[in-house]
Amino acid sequence: MKIIPKSREAISGTGAVTPSLVKNVTELKKLPVRLKVQFDGSAVYVPENLMDKFVIRGGNPLLGTIRVSGAKNAALPAMAAAILTDETLVLENIPDVRDIQTERNLLVSMGAEVELGYGRAHHRTTISCRSLVNPEAAYELVKTMRASTLVLGPLVARMGRARVSLPGGCAIGARPIDLHIKGLEQLGATIRQEHGYIEASADRLRGGHIAFDKITVTGTEDLMMAAALAQGETLMENCAREPEVVDLAVLLNKMGAKIEGAGTSTIRIKGVSKLGGARHRIIPDRIEAGTFVIAAALTGGDLTITNCDPLHLNALLQKLEECGVTTTTTGDSIRVKNGHRLKAADMSTEEYPGFPTDMQAQYMALATQAEGTSIITENIFENRFMHAQELVRMGANIKVEGSRAIVRGHTPLSGAAVQCSDLRASASLVIAALVAEGETILDRVYHIDRGYERIEEKLRGANGQIRRIGEMLPKRTQVPAGVA
Ligand code: UD1
Repeated sequence: MKIIPKSREAISGTGAVTPSLVKNVTELKKLPVRLKVQFDGSAVYVPENLMDKFVIRGGNPLLGTIRVSGAKNAALPAMAAAILTDETLVLENIPDVRDIQTERNLLVSMGAEVELGYGRAHHRTTISCRSLVNPEAAYELVKTMRASTLVLGPLVARMGRARVSLPGGCAIGARPIDLHIKGLEQLGATIRQEHGYIEASADRLRGGHIAFDKITVTGTEDLMMAAALAQGETLMENCAREPEVVDLAVLLNKMGAKIEGAGTSTIRIKGVSKLGGARHRIIPDRIEAGTFVIAAALTGGDLTITNCDPLHLNALLQKLEECGVTTTTTGDSIRVKNGHRLKAADMSTEEYPGFPTDMQAQYMALATQAEGTSIITENIFENRFMHAQELVRMGANIKVEGSRAIVRGHTPLSGAAVQCSDLRASASLVIAALVAEGETILDRVYHIDRGYERIEEKLRGANGQIRRIGEMLPKRTQVPAGVA
């Protein structure tokens, strides 16, 4: 297929998606394009809308209902798990966000066949890694999404070798992958580091004892996948207990793995020689749900967040109660009705089940409007206060001292031109803009598109005044009610 670069319009082609096509696409640097693999195996190349902005007018309470998408952080390891088998994985509730597109491109670049559902099934992804030809995660992909390193363990386990780019630094801190590497060595892999790449090899991984020096979410997931196909038993200690780790273990066990203890700090894995296909529904995105909970509380709205799991949000809901926010939950929804004044409450981020670092920025936006002073301590990442300066530009009173931010609340916010620096920082700026006086222009919204599925449409449907400008993507076709 020939790719003719044309800006501002979608370029479509037909034919199977092959690794060389993906390479062509990533090499089209002057025109950043996104590869969308379609149900019939053909590809559509869409120019990336890197310069999109949000225009947000504050002052409206969020009302009605918002439905939460599948968890990006559960979908990413689930897709990597497809590498472990030559059979097909069918994954439901996959969110339509940029990180997922990046992972699809990564899998396709290795030789995987990735098929997307369409219409009502557009959140379904079917992956077959029957014939993997290229066990490599190139720098071009890893630098845009660090979770690409999740393919390291599965590749060594299934193919006996892997070449994965080191991620390097990122906006929120150093984020090394030394614990992934050390763990793989415990499982018998030989690791070399050259030209910015990790090269790992092993004839067959063998079970071992992995005691993590520090709790790591993707590290736990990566090694759990590797150990699932190792010879013998693996004991992993000081593991991450996040719901996404549990979801991955559930999927792996459906594929034939023998994993016990996921969700606790000790995981035991009896290696098997082969894993098979499975069908699995990804858990709801707790961070997306939490973002809407905070937005509703801050705007004084009455919002019901559906298709979520309130149990995964315990730490946040408890903290909000301290702040004077009333929430009521059912098995799969949270209603936030806030007519009260917000009260300041100190908060420290911790590994699950503690308060998530991925909700720290959004909580800071809330703290700017609470009565009193909140001290926010970031314990997971060393440089995760980039949003503070942007919030200050909107009128907040925040002082950052090392890993602490001191937020003096109840200062009026006013709309300003602000910039997204990373995914969750962007979410906090959207939330702040919803209560700011006047208009906020939010630049670099590609950060938010990495992990939130059409956030502007969801907020608009709940009385938020937000629109995207500079949009280049083709509009989705609306199916009239009662037709499909
Ligand atoms: C995952 C989440 C991310 C979340 C983070 C913490 C995914 C795809 N991403 O990221 O949204 O913010 O958990 O909840 O699930 N560390 C090391 N060496 C390692 C690995 C990690 O020192 O080999 C450090 C990190 O620098 C960080 C801490 O451990 O300070 C926790 O990081 P980790 O849990 O690994 O984060 P991710 O899995 O990358």
